[in-house]
Amino acid sequence: MTEMLQKFDVTVIGAGAAGLMCAAQAAARGRRVLVLDHANKAGKKILMSGGGRCNFTNYYVAPDKYLSHNPHFCKSALNRYTQWDFIGLVDSHGIGYHEKKDGQLFCDNKASDILNMLLAECEQQGVEIRLDTAVSGIRSLDGDLYRYLFDAVNTRAGEQYQVQCESLVIATGGPSIPTLGATGFGYDIARQFGLKVYAPRAGLVPFTLTDHNKTLSAALSGTSLPVEVECNQQFFADDLLFTHRGLSGPAVLQISSYWKDGDSVTFDLLPGKDLAAELRQQQHSRPKVRLKNWLAELTTQKFAEHWLDGKFREETILADLSGADMDALANGLHQWRVKPAGTEGYRTAEVALGGVDTDEVSSKTMECKTQPGLFFIGEVLDVTGHLGGFNFQWAWSSAVAAAEYV
Ligand code: FDA
Repeated sequence: MTEMLQKFDVTVIGAGAAGLMCAAQAAARGRRVLVLDHANKAGKKILMSGGGRCNFTNYYVAPDKYLSHNPHFCKSALNRYTQWDFIGLVDSHGIGYHEKKDGQLFCDNKASDILNMLLAECEQQGVEIRLDTAVSGIRSLDGDLYRYLFDAVNTRAGEQYQVQCESLVIATGGPSIPTLGATGFGYDIARQFGLKVYAPRAGLVPFTLTDHNKTLSAALSGTSLPVEVECNQQFFADDLLFTHRGLSGPAVLQISSYWKDGDSVTFDLLPGKDLAAELRQQQHSRPKVRLKNWLAELTTQKFAEHWLDGKFREETILADLSGADMDALANGLHQWRVKPAGTEGYRTAEVALGGVDTDEVSSKTMECKTQPGLFFIGEVLDVTGHLGGFNFQWAWSSAVAAAEYV
């Protein structure tokens, strides 16, 4: 029989990356901690992350890898619990990892290594984790040390009870990938307590196309090219992947976080080259080479075929090209301008941009300035990292910042 009212020092809502980290660290300080999650499994996004290998941090964590209406907010937490601290924790659990590229650290084995590490830390520190638990009716009690009271129900067993706690930590993440249990719950709680929330939108997400570029993309589906991409004065150099519905790959995911409806995105499909000069030089040294074969040497056969289709005849050789042809060709490849119709949305987005306004929260403790004892950590806050392990590092750093004060 469940007691109707249960008291804890700290309750964390959300057994994801930030919630589990915060719970373990707070319990290590001697706090009695309860974690609640409505999902039937903890850390589902961790398990899905990094293609199943969890890109858990990055050697090159820095504030400029984060988007927020207040770009300074993330600095303090990132400085106090760094990537090196998290790597130390991973090492202490004997988890193998490797750098894939650009400082991105992935598990050698599986993402479950990271989740199991967090669960082991929680267990060791005596954290109580309850899954399949829906939370509602959160209210604050004036003048009581245990300031927060809410209803909890175990959705499997149907058991209902109330929880009262001194510190309440909201670690419910953002709304991306609803099938993994993601909700906008944290935003609702913030609004309930009068806090400002920046409208969330999908980030690190593929683009959809509707114009003639969609036909090209679909024809090239599966083709990947190293590119440079620009939108709103932001630049990324990484791979572009053509898909049936539009554009994806790390370069696109990165730039999608800076893109807004109606913006154009410009790709340099052959970065680091001067195609206009190269074409002229090749026309001189290899005049009989087919244009299609020349472009295939620089890209792929499939790309060359579809890119040139409708622009040049199949049998065009380099000698056939006028100066204007060469300039147009070089321009088109160095500055391919695309106007995405939209993004794939929360269905596939890795993160949600926007969230609880960081001005409402102390950058040192993650506690609400106007609502003592209420903390927000992880993705629910208006702090969003680039692709490459930065989002998990934010989850770890913000969680530890709060854990010291809950
Ligand atoms: P997180 O989403 O981890 O946890 C929130 C928890 O709250 C969930 O367990 C959820 O069930 C629970 N919850 C939600 N609503 C609730 C409610 N109403 N009541 C109770 N519980 C509720 N990042 C990175 O750095 N490297 C990577 O490799 C990847 N890869 C990646 C792949 C995919 C497919 C996705 C979708 C995302 C990534 N990310 C990533 C991003 C990363 O997963 C994300 O930034 C962190 O998980 C955020 O951690 P949080 O703890 O804030 O939320």
